[in-house]
Amino acid sequence: MKTFRAMRSFGLGLVLTLAVSAALDGAEPPQPASDDPAVKAKVEEVRKALRRAMILEMARGSAPGKFAKDPDLLDALEDLRRRHPYESLGQRLAYETERIRQEPKLASAPRLADDTAKQLDELERQQAAQLQRERRVELLRLLHANEVEQFIARSGFGLERVPNPKPRGLDLTPVEPIPLATVSPLTAEDMGVATVLPKTAVAGASRMPSVEQLDALHRGGLMSFLNPNLFGHVKEHGQVAGFEPHQFRAALRPEAYLQEPAKTAGGERWQLKRLELVGLLKHDQPAVYVSEHLPRMDQLAKAKVRSLSAFEEAGLKALRDGEQLKTEATTNVIRMVGALRATKQCLECHVGERGTLLGAFTYEMQRDPPLPLVK
Ligand code: HEC
Repeated sequence: MKTFRAMRSFGLGLVLTLAVSAALDGAEPPQPASDDPAVKAKVEEVRKALRRAMILEMARGSAPGKFAKDPDLLDALEDLRRRHPYESLGQRLAYETERIRQEPKLASAPRLADDTAKQLDELERQQAAQLQRERRVELLRLLHANEVEQFIARSGFGLERVPNPKPRGLDLTPVEPIPLATVSPLTAEDMGVATVLPKTAVAGASRMPSVEQLDALHRGGLMSFLNPNLFGHVKEHGQVAGFEPHQFRAALRPEAYLQEPAKTAGGERWQLKRLELVGLLKHDQPAVYVSEHLPRMDQLAKAKVRSLSAFEEAGLKALRDGEQLKTEATTNVIRMVGALRATKQCLECHVGERGTLLGAFTYEMQRDPPLPLVK
């Protein structure tokens, strides 16, 4: 900022203007006519400031361009840096280190079932794509980087490499906790009879969702809760700029995953009554954080915990043995437990091997309205 003003008072407005337009074209700014090292140094400083300002502009979610008319952006850039400093997450994850010290095997991965291993690869790809699309983490890196200039020169600002050059801003818009569906509880009888879920979707009025569809629902949930753009930029293990606690920021809609084939589905709808996080390390025993909302870590820190149901115990055991999803169904109720495993992205903060179980989601869904049962 000081430099910006100093340039004006130096009477170098022309150089500045050229530098601005060249920077906007993505070309190298022209060299100053003067050989005076002091002038050269100042021009260099202005260039840096301009390029940072372009990044700031991107951080705000608009294309570079307007910033030249708005010198306050440079102050705003400093402000962004101040608000997203590198912080240590060591304190927040101290429970994990402590628990693994007591029981080292908690940090090792089981032999993964073939499907689980494939899904983990796929998840890593999807998380990388999510980062590319939203670019929050790259912006955080650039915000703090010294090599901003090189990056811009090398890549033409990187705009042409991504289909949508508008990243979301660094500052997330706050969202309210997202409530779960309220449906009247069923009597034990109305729950219906124990049912084996088909592996793939089949048509029919009383059909059950397939394991494949439930699996996709779980993946949708975990991708949402563990959006890597919220992880922030990890400089080194546990040193992070812009970390936001894991959280759902949008509803998870079973109908988006479960209703195919639609025409024959008989209008049945499954409501998500419960989606809770199973924590594995905070307590001596695995525990479920009780919540009437989709999980978000900032809220769960204060939440009550309960012990696992018999089904959840069995589910967790299956996940610990390398499965990805364990389900249990009756005509009108589906319960499931799904794994939250460490992809390589997670290990920038968490301790353990790739594939280690870091947590699980436990779900309960209810058919709405329930199918009347033939008595
Ligand atoms: C940038 C650091 C960072 C990354 C990357 C990260 N986490 Fe976390 N995670 C945390 C922190 C910190 C906590 C503790 C809660 C808090 O302070 O918000 C946590 C908590 C959790 C919990 C809750 C544990 C409990 O028992 O309460 C789970 C589950 C979890 N993370 C899974 C994952 C998975 C899976 C990934 C990768 C897809 C991941 N995390 C990536 C920082 C991170």
